[in-house]
Amino acid sequence: MSIQSINHLNLRNKKVLIRADLNVPIDGSIISSTSRIDASIPTIQYAIDNAQIVILTSHLGRPTEGSFDNTLSLKPIVDYLQDKLNIKIMLHRDFEKGQSFEPGILHVLENVRFNLGEKECSNELSKKYASIADIFVMDAFGTAHRKEASTYGIGEYINEKCAGLLFYDEVKALTKTFDQPKKPMLAIVGGSKVSTKLSVLKNLINRVDGLILGGGILNTFIAAQGFNIGRSLYEVDFIDEAKYILNEIEEKQIFFPVIEDVVCAKEFNINAHAKLKKIHDIEADDMIFDLGPNTLKNITNHLGQVSTIMWNGPLAVFEFKQFSSGTETLSHAIADCEAFPLAGGGDTIAAIEKFKVCKKISYISTAGGAFLEFAEGKKLPAIEMLEQ
Ligand code: 3PG
Repeated sequence: MSIQSINHLNLRNKKVLIRADLNVPIDGSIISSTSRIDASIPTIQYAIDNAQIVILTSHLGRPTEGSFDNTLSLKPIVDYLQDKLNIKIMLHRDFEKGQSFEPGILHVLENVRFNLGEKECSNELSKKYASIADIFVMDAFGTAHRKEASTYGIGEYINEKCAGLLFYDEVKALTKTFDQPKKPMLAIVGGSKVSTKLSVLKNLINRVDGLILGGGILNTFIAAQGFNIGRSLYEVDFIDEAKYILNEIEEKQIFFPVIEDVVCAKEFNINAHAKLKKIHDIEADDMIFDLGPNTLKNITNHLGQVSTIMWNGPLAVFEFKQFSSGTETLSHAIADCEAFPLAGGGDTIAAIEKFKVCKKISYISTAGGAFLEFAEGKKLPAIEMLEQ
């Protein structure tokens, strides 16, 4: 690989700034999944053990730049790290160029997205980050597709830069799989909006041999196929794009499952009454929340014919028991098939954990969007920055 890992550099007497992706789901002050933080700990610990001063930062959510938002503070994450690491931690609301950071303490800088210029990758902010450290350690693989001041801009102004252990391992594992994927390759892409994954879908159809869609994305495609989808979540403005992709799928002879049946309800809540319907029988007030058994059979029968499976996004509303069968059946079918499955993204990891198939998934990435962009063959800005 053409990027350096933290353990290729000498950190002695050095001030190290680690950009991690600690963007975890937080309910009040309770972290509902700590997997991203846990995956970041080896790099943080390595830096604590080897460098003189360690400064850590991350984004959390999407706050408005220029103002502090208590609900998106890194405080709950600092509390969690305090339990896991044997070191005093100090959370800094602001930092200044030239500020001195005491050794023997893990310094955490507040949510980078509170800082003006973070998103647009301003030179001023990038320089300010670079001014507080000797070495920049990029470990936020989940944010590697963002060209922001703390993930990309800093690289231009810092003395030395490298990947953290998590970042390095992700790039290594994903390069190995996606540079020359074992064919046939199947992509499973779930999610609510085609608009957020349009470029991914357009690029993926040039790389994969099969495509399975789920959630609101699939609803838009069902509507594009000419079926009534009632009140289901979909994007009317993307019907033409969906038609274009369906056309390409047909021309390239990519596997795309026939949607024969779906599970519907008249309302969206935990007690909603689920009803199995043929795709032709959807009524004006129905909403699609899961796939039916015949459709699932069309999907699972195909898994035996593929060698690589790339999975991002659940098939349906798996959080509600009555609509979880599609994602559960798919999870077990993926776990039990002969193919090499890779999965990424917060919701996908939550589904894998819920249906207890983690051990059978060959590779689980901490990234969602970055994982997908890597899979579609794009060069991620943070990787480009580390290679420069
Ligand atoms: C993610 O959760 O996918 C990453 O942390 C990136 O977050 P973002 O989509 O808000 O940039």
